[in-house]
Amino acid sequence: MDVQNRVALVTGGAHGIGRALCRALCIEGARVVVADLDLDGAQKIADEIGGMAIKLDVANEAEIVAAIQRVEKEMGPIDIFVSNAGVAFGDGGAGAASASNEKWRACLDINLMAHVYAAREMVPRMKKRGGGCLVNVASAAGLLCQVGEAAYTASKHAAVGFAESLAITHRDDGIHVCLVCPQAVATRMIGVDEDTEIEDGSTGFGGNDVDGILSTEYVADCILAAIQQEKFLVLPHPQVSTYFRRKASDHDRWIEGMHRFRARLAGDSG
Ligand SMILES: NC(=O)c1ccc[n+]([C@@H]2O[C@H](COP(=O)([O-])OP(=O)(O)OC[C@H]3O[C@@H](n4cnc5c(N)ncnc54)[C@H](O)[C@@H]3O)[C@@H](O)[C@H]2O)c1
Repeated sequence: MDVQNRVALVTGGAHGIGRALCRALCIEGARVVVADLDLDGAQKIADEIGGMAIKLDVANEAEIVAAIQRVEKEMGPIDIFVSNAGVAFGDGGAGAASASNEKWRACLDINLMAHVYAAREMVPRMKKRGGGCLVNVASAAGLLCQVGEAAYTASKHAAVGFAESLAITHRDDGIHVCLVCPQAVATRMIGVDEDTEIEDGSTGFGGNDVDGILSTEYVADCILAAIQQEKFLVLPHPQVSTYFRRKASDHDRWIEGMHRFRARLAGDSG
């Protein structure tokens, strides 16, 4: 899709990957809506790029529906809906099932159900108009595993499955689905100040930097290219493709390897 003059809504657009994507879409001529729980942050980016800011809690279906209705009324049909907002939590001391139900629910609501709510409202609208683009930001954790973050990993696996279902079901409706699965990106989510300039491939953040940390600008460019070229899977760290193949070809061996990796991480931090 040529994004010039298209209306694009980006959730979690106030910070991190979403912020960089709002800027990249604007440079290519899209009319951008920055949607975020953090309205001040969203307004700052909207002012910078000449876009529209809206306050939105993606965990709330009624808010997503209202946001879509408002944007379509004020700016016209949404051509590109980017479900990017996400949260992550560590397991805590007692292992993979030990994070609170509140944290599990937040992961499932924000990292998965928000994608469902957006698609539920956008698919019929896009179908009627002959097509559109849904971008779902998951994570390499949705194909592999984020060690020490079981709720995050499970929610991202579910997000991957949902994006696959969407793409398969709605291809004939002209809807392009794009699934984004990065490893570490320099944002607050992994403890990096999002305003520090980072060289792509930097290391130094413990278990997060296996294949180097990428800048938000680099990841945004990968997503933009996938929107333009109508590609499904975006792997800003190309190594993920190899790991995914290895996992699929011998799952038991992969678990053994990940177990050793976890032990190494525990040793490093101990
Ligand atoms: N940073 C990484 O290493 C990394 C790696 C893989 C995938 N991702 C994914 O990329 C996406 C963006 O993450 P990021 O790294 O830019 O994080 P970030 O914390 O920098 O930005 C997340 C944004 O989402 C917003 N947000 C959080 N909850 C929200 C809600 N309920 N409603 C609306 N907005 C909400 C926040 O205010 C923030 O602006 C997430 O889905 C994340 O899981 C990140």
